[in-house]
Amino acid sequence: MAMLGYHEIIIAFICFLLLFFFGSVDGLLWNWPLIGMLPGLLVNVHRIHDKCTEILAQSGGTFLLKGPWLANMDMLGTVDPANVHYIMSANFSNYPKGPQFLKIFDFLGDGIFNSDADSWRNQRKLARLLIAHQRFHQFLVKTSQDKVEKGLIPVLEHVSKQGLVMDLQDLFQRLTFDTTCMLVTGYDPGCLSIELPDVPFSKAMDDAEEAVFTRHVVPESIWKFQKWLGIGQEKKLSEARETLDHVIAKFISTKKHELSKGIALMGEEEGVDLLTSYLCNDEATGGLRCDDKFLRDTILNFMIAGRDTTSSALTWFIWLVSTHPIVEANIREELKTAIPAKEDNNRRLFSVEEVNKLVYLHCALCESLRLYPPVPFQHKEPHQSDVLPSGHHVHPKMKVMFSLYAMGRMKFIWGDDCLEFKPERWISEQGTIKHEPSYKFLAFNAGPRTCLGKEVAFTQMKAVAAAIIHNYNVQVVEGHHVTPNVSIILYMKHGLKVRVTKRWSSS
Ligand code: HEM
Repeated sequence: MAMLGYHEIIIAFICFLLLFFFGSVDGLLWNWPLIGMLPGLLVNVHRIHDKCTEILAQSGGTFLLKGPWLANMDMLGTVDPANVHYIMSANFSNYPKGPQFLKIFDFLGDGIFNSDADSWRNQRKLARLLIAHQRFHQFLVKTSQDKVEKGLIPVLEHVSKQGLVMDLQDLFQRLTFDTTCMLVTGYDPGCLSIELPDVPFSKAMDDAEEAVFTRHVVPESIWKFQKWLGIGQEKKLSEARETLDHVIAKFISTKKHELSKGIALMGEEEGVDLLTSYLCNDEATGGLRCDDKFLRDTILNFMIAGRDTTSSALTWFIWLVSTHPIVEANIREELKTAIPAKEDNNRRLFSVEEVNKLVYLHCALCESLRLYPPVPFQHKEPHQSDVLPSGHHVHPKMKVMFSLYAMGRMKFIWGDDCLEFKPERWISEQGTIKHEPSYKFLAFNAGPRTCLGKEVAFTQMKAVAAAIIHNYNVQVVEGHHVTPNVSIILYMKHGLKVRVTKRWSSS
């Protein structure tokens, strides 16, 4: 108190009077005159996911957040599975991503994330076809295994030999950046290596995501003004955009050149990347024009879809496993069952077929995704006014926001032990994987817009997880503070600082 000046005391007093006469407190947030609940949101922005969890738990699963007057920032936050099911599936057509989403994510162009109606439908149809194709699956298996063997293991061997502290989150970002870039374009940017090089493409994606998050929490007029002035996050975003456009244009022109010379399809028996598939698949384009703009948007959308989500999932998973020794021991036991009897229980890597059979590993990954969903929130805009199953009214000038992070932490959805990391909750009495409906476990979205890369992500995560857990002990550096960041992807704010030691003496 002694630190406060007179002007702060006067401001506090005016605020008190304003609230007393004109404001109200709704749940855990003050509703101010003119500015609504925006101050409460901004004050809590550094711990926004936990704040949302508290508010939604106390309000029975749905809460109306009042934005500033005339700013069209009213938002209905919900974790109610009945609402999720209704919006994502039953009344899907009334809940497009909407023009607001398009404005906020404009750097994604007209790609699948950023489109609705026919454009989305056609893009999804084609993307699904190409991802489900055997030749892409072959490429996925090869790419995932190769990256583990030639990228991840050499770095882990190096840091374990030297006894170095390493940021595992950074390592996973590098790994999934390389694999996603390879899967999407066929080119390996070589981000994951002992030298830990700076890769402008990767940095540009980080900058763009940060700016997009800011656009979620400040009124549109403010970020548009910043964009016009070319300052702050908006400046960073336009620079990032230039880098992204430049790098992607190069991938496209190189691939076209290679295809024209017959180079790109030379190793086809090992499968092919998505860019090659898009360029060679004119029979199934469903009215889409695969011109350079379409390819640019598609590549960027897939890069965003695959890179960050998978590395975030891996980071939280390895942290949870390394801090839950019983779960770690269970995974190791299960991995042993995948090793042929004639082989010694020793240093080894696992094939995709071997890890795909493992039930406990799959359940542990789902459990980690429940508590730490890489996409922590999502929003929709109602096309027409509607009433949700919870009885709440929504209209076109507001957003409906799902907090996936909060959903995994609701007692009324997951039970009293919802905050515990318990892979067993995913195992049925018969010992098989228990299916949880997607409107309850929303990490991969639900309904017609369900993630197209779920199997791609599980394949990569299992290959990496098995290689690390079987061959190394991971120890989080003492005193390292693990807490979520504030962005559109749920990363650890301070990274994941660990030491790694080998489990086997032979190499
Ligand atoms: C653990 C990893 C992943 C998680 C948690 C995840 C989660 C999600 C979520 C929540 C959405 C809905 C986003 C929205 O509509 O705003 C989504 C959509 C999508 N995901 Fe994933 N994803 C993961 C990995 C991947 C990978 C590896 C790929 C592809 C290589 C991929 C491709 C897509 C695509 C194309 C969509 C758009 C679907 C549509 O709008 O119809 N995802 N994902």
